[in-house]
Amino acid sequence: MHDPVVLRSKHLARFQAEPAVFVAPGRVNLIGEHTDYAEGFVMPVAIDFATLAAISPRSDGKIVIYSENFEEEKIFEAAALPVAPSKHWSDYPIGVAVILAGEGQKIPGFSLSIWGDVPLGSGLSSSAALEVVTGLAITSLTGVTYPGPVLARLCQRVENEFVGANCGIMDQFISANGEENHALLLDCRDLSFKLAPIPADIAIVIANTMVKHSIAGGDYPTRRRESEAACAIINSHRGGVPFLRDATLEDLEKWGHEMEPKSYLRAKHVITEDLRTVAAEKALEKGDLAEVGRLMAEAHASYSKDFGGSCPEADAMVEMAQDLPGLVGARLTGGGFGGCTVNLVKRENAKAFAETLASRYFAKFGIHPQIHICHASGGAHRLS
Ligand code: GLA
Repeated sequence: MHDPVVLRSKHLARFQAEPAVFVAPGRVNLIGEHTDYAEGFVMPVAIDFATLAAISPRSDGKIVIYSENFEEEKIFEAAALPVAPSKHWSDYPIGVAVILAGEGQKIPGFSLSIWGDVPLGSGLSSSAALEVVTGLAITSLTGVTYPGPVLARLCQRVENEFVGANCGIMDQFISANGEENHALLLDCRDLSFKLAPIPADIAIVIANTMVKHSIAGGDYPTRRRESEAACAIINSHRGGVPFLRDATLEDLEKWGHEMEPKSYLRAKHVITEDLRTVAAEKALEKGDLAEVGRLMAEAHASYSKDFGGSCPEADAMVEMAQDLPGLVGARLTGGGFGGCTVNLVKRENAKAFAETLASRYFAKFGIHPQIHICHASGGAHRLS
């Protein structure tokens, strides 16, 4: 799938320079939704879909970025990087250069070719993969490289400070630090993490509702604001609760009546989701798949009903999976309001599971969903 040879030879033909080639994966989150910016817990896995970047230095001070997917080239001056985004795919790679320059890195001229197969707008973190792979590529030229967690934080800043999307750390972190055959329980407060093994006989089946997801749009920041408003009320009473990570269900009981009803529900989701996420890692460690499935079902109900983060298509996709042979657990994954469901399924049942789910979904919505049978892949690295 991630054959660097094609991208390398295209780069060579286009720019007459031998490139170094890097890869960074997309992700699905098994559990822990809208908890990252509340400094809580998430448990994503890196997936088989990824973005590749080929880079070579230039001597004319230009930054030339070519997207194989969009068949489009963008040219910048290394000495005069843009100060604002242009609502274009190139915001992500050039945003990385902008943030690195802000860190004091001297950004040279370079040619960068990009190709990826992470489905766009599906909630599988194509933008995080693009940022992380660009970060690896550019720092290979500057020589100032970063440990994975630091690179992830810089790439999150690309979203927050340049692109203008108010996301948390999860997507960039897992893309930079994923481990083959493992999920990663990340503490978004101090970025410490624990690897949780995905059993070899379990497949990760990703079902795309084909309803487009966007975190720059209105719903993601609205939910974030609503949950943070509840946190502020708790903090005003007892202090020491800068983030919902620090709040408890007792806090909600005590001061919930002062909150807007929606804020109360958003906070309830975040507080209970942190508990579920930590419990899910323990269950995975013990190999207790029934418990993992139960927690995923609870997480979906909470995400849909309390957080208001789902949509009819995703609720139906989760529902339709319930009685299919081999299912361990199913839920909507990622930023919400569309995108994909993640299903843990016994590998021997995965193909039949995918086929039946697709035909059920088509029968209800008249839409052919893309369904991918994946495994937990490794994080970003150099390919050649
Ligand atoms: C998006 C964001 C993440 C996280 C999830 C929700 O993927 O980029 O930071 O907030 O939504 O869990």
